[in-house]
Amino acid sequence: MVYRIGKLKLKNRFLLAPMLEPNDVAFRLLCKKAGCGLTYCGMTSPLSRQKMFLDDKPAVQLFGNSAKGIASFIKKYDSKVSLWDFNLGCPSKLSKKMGHGAYLCIDAFAPKGVPPAQKASAGADKGGNIETIEKILKVMCGATKKPVTIKLRKSGKAIEIAKMAEKYVDAIGIHARTASQGYSGDVDYDFALRLKKAVSVPVIYSGNVNEKNVKKILKDFDFVFVGREAIGDPGIFARLNGKKSKIGFRGYLKLAKKYKLFFRQIKYQAMNFTKGVVGAKKLRLGLIGAKSIGDVERVVLNNKLG
Ligand SMILES: Cc1cc2nc3c(=O)[nH]c(=O)nc-3n(C[C@H](O)[C@H](O)[C@H](O)COP(=O)(O)O)c2cc1C
Repeated sequence: MVYRIGKLKLKNRFLLAPMLEPNDVAFRLLCKKAGCGLTYCGMTSPLSRQKMFLDDKPAVQLFGNSAKGIASFIKKYDSKVSLWDFNLGCPSKLSKKMGHGAYLCIDAFAPKGVPPAQKASAGADKGGNIETIEKILKVMCGATKKPVTIKLRKSGKAIEIAKMAEKYVDAIGIHARTASQGYSGDVDYDFALRLKKAVSVPVIYSGNVNEKNVKKILKDFDFVFVGREAIGDPGIFARLNGKKSKIGFRGYLKLAKKYKLFFRQIKYQAMNFTKGVVGAKKLRLGLIGAKSIGDVERVVLNNKLG
């Protein structure tokens, strides 16, 4: 069976949710090896000059409060990505201050925000932010022939934004928690369903997706984003596809060294991979004291972590 987001063909409907800290290239490659249909990078500023490693041909998610830098960033990396996504869901304090992420969808933030484009048309219910979002999507679509997606959170404007966006995008992701909920509290499944019914492009559902509920969710939605359940456990994608997997931290370490990832990132992922492992507490204590990649390796080898 082949599934599609625009022209992009996918072999299944299990996507790795965009996640800033966990989704480094080594982790994404392991998810892909395990059978993930499409990996998403964490949010990236189009103004960033940091080198991107894209060997898994991922979806790259951009964020910002204007279209500044987007066209040239897309041109630079276009051949290496599967699709481009725009973040309309980040709930962080920085996003609130800068008027991007989830706050680009909330009019109340437009007058206070820095971007002049938003200020010009700001004011409740004028849809100033919707205009900004539309401009950004036009620029994205003009810069690439690859599919474009957005990822939204639940908000008063989300369905209106989704309806505007479907003129431009090939799929819409929905995390049905509000910005103020962050990552906890109930996910509003009915809200996600209402959004799905309001648009005709495929909808990617996000929020507490796990091995138990995934079948049911995929009866209602086209794709799922696997988020926190995948952290430290790329093998979840094998299991979702009905296969066994032995993907553990050693595989991660090998790739992390290849891409020369920072020690603090490797240590962070080592902690993540202790999830569900027998003796996890002892392992974590060992890892806390690790001061080098060699230390991490010793703790892992001594404790048979993957
Ligand atoms: C550590 C972490 C980082 C995240 N970074 C991003 C991000 O960069 N872009 C984004 O759209 N969502 C981000 N998210 C949200 C996830 O994509 C997902 O929507 C959310 O975690 C809900 O799914 P879950 O309950 O399955 O984890 C992040 C979530 C976590 C836990």
